[in-house]
Amino acid sequence: MIRALNIKDAARLAEIHAQSFERGWSQAEMEAHLQKDLCFGYGRPAQGFVILRARADQAEILTIAIAPEARRIGLARQIMDIAETELIEQGVDTLFLEVAEDNHPAIAFYKAGGFEPIGRRPAYYKRKGGRVAALTYRKRLGL
Ligand SMILES: CC(C)(COP(=O)(O)OP(=O)(O)OC[C@H]1O[C@@H](n2cnc3c(N)ncnc32)[C@H](O)[C@@H]1OP(=O)(O)O)[C@@H](O)C(=O)NCCC(=O)NCCS
Repeated sequence: MIRALNIKDAARLAEIHAQSFERGWSQAEMEAHLQKDLCFGYGRPAQGFVILRARADQAEILTIAIAPEARRIGLARQIMDIAETELIEQGVDTLFLEVAEDNHPAIAFYKAGGFEPIGRRPAYYKRKGGRVAALTYRKRLGL
């Protein structure tokens, strides 16, 4: 079941984020996003989620993560389908995102979801082993 998330989901989102990224977002950071951004997830407790920010006719994926044990069964695709439908209803026509150049699962996911590459930002992400470039992707919604 895909649903809009609320502040009660903050701890679980922080847990999934910590399992998914080198620098996880804290529960307090998640609470802030849950109050000001669009947040959709699957299940209760959530097994995965996306956080988006919409401004006028554009939106950006701030983060998306699925619990490691629940990956590759279509949850991220289902969550994005609902999120994109909501964005279109809000008048958004273009969705952007940034992804680390070495994050091959995520790049494959975005390509499969109809995103097209539009740019590259060198040395964008700081990692323990050094800096990594970000690739920028765009999707025209409702086409
Ligand atoms: C990227 C991520 C969100 C994908 O979530 P998911 O629920 O596993 O993805 P789905 O099952 O919905 O996959 C949909 C399609 O995307 C592609 N895909 C997803 N994961 C893939 C992988 N590891 N390798 C290759 N293709 C992949 C496939 O085309 C897949 O369809 P298929 O399974 O029928 O072949 C998940 O791997 C994740 O949470 N990663 C860690 C966090 C992260 O990197 N987020 C993105 C930051 S920019």
